[in-house]
Amino acid sequence: MAYAAFRSIGAYAPEKILTNQELSEMVDTSDEWIVKRTGIKERRIAAKDETTSDMGVKAAALAIERSGIEKKDIDMLICATISPDYFCMPSTATIISSKLGLNNVTAFDISAACTGFVYILSIAKAFIEAGMKKNILIVGAEKLSAITDYTDRGTCILFGDGAGAAIISATEDKSEAIIDIHTGADGTFADLLMTPNGGSGSAHDSLDQEASSCFMQMKGNETFKVAVRTLTKDVVDILQTNNIKSEDINHFVPHQANYRIIKAVGDALAMKEEQVVLTVAKYGNTSGASIPMAINEVYESGDLKAGELMLLDAFGGGLTWGSALVPFSPLK
Ligand code: COA
Repeated sequence: MAYAAFRSIGAYAPEKILTNQELSEMVDTSDEWIVKRTGIKERRIAAKDETTSDMGVKAAALAIERSGIEKKDIDMLICATISPDYFCMPSTATIISSKLGLNNVTAFDISAACTGFVYILSIAKAFIEAGMKKNILIVGAEKLSAITDYTDRGTCILFGDGAGAAIISATEDKSEAIIDIHTGADGTFADLLMTPNGGSGSAHDSLDQEASSCFMQMKGNETFKVAVRTLTKDVVDILQTNNIKSEDINHFVPHQANYRIIKAVGDALAMKEEQVVLTVAKYGNTSGASIPMAINEVYESGDLKAGELMLLDAFGGGLTWGSALVPFSPLK
């Protein structure tokens, strides 16, 4: 039986920093309010001509280099994004594959908002366990600044740009395997977080460019409450199902949406501060890129060791959610 191993991580954050102070000159807000309610101090913003695929390529190149796996052996590429280079086609995954010179891949995007990385991890695991693919590149990449309304203080303070990527490959050694992944969705909460214009469900004339802009809209407070409730249940569930205790987790890597959500879920699991990975202060919410960017921070700080166990959890528009128990298993 083939198992799926999490071999490597890479990430990229654009150079330009957008601070809370700068946002307070654009909308009616303050550094104090943003830090107190979200924990975010700054976020990165891609250059005007820098696309989601450009960022995905940089993160992916690092993940490939660190994996020790050759490009020619990568047989699938999945990209999680809600800010693709082009809204209908081609997929951002196919653009990334061509920029990286990967000529032998099945490539496609998925849309699960901030849960995107956990979803693509679960798809990669399933393809490998089914014996259909051997080395899968998964990429979470977002240029959220392209779909953010910088006149709406309820959303523009939260989001940033960036990318993260990982290589998942087949192994026969069960001790290296991703242990479990839970994913879920409930479309009855679809209106909490959405881009209402521009699609076939849009009330606007598709020729009316202004009305059909794809800006995000969010009912923040309701989203916050559902996020805490759903995430807490989900992470407790995945630990219990697998008979794993909180203290067995080396790195709890939550989706970086809001420090208060992370704290509430961490407290429910009795996680110690040193177990919880936090990047929300410097990158804000980068949706599908947030978890791999956070894993990369731990990796680059030298604190992610072979065999250590990560607990991932995510929540996002859809609504969607997911959690995963993932040992870090670089090639020996
Ligand atoms: N600066 C100053 N005041 C702001 C503000 C801002 N950026 N955004 C909202 N406010 C105001 C509101 O207008 C409201 O004012 P009022 O009381 O006069 O009506 C007040 O602050 C409280 O608004 P509320 O929306 O209840 O605040 P909150 O504590 O829920 O914080 C969020 C707002 C967006 C930070 C918070 O709800 C949140 O993080 N939600 C989850 C978002 C998220 O994670 N989304 C992605 C899921 S992946």
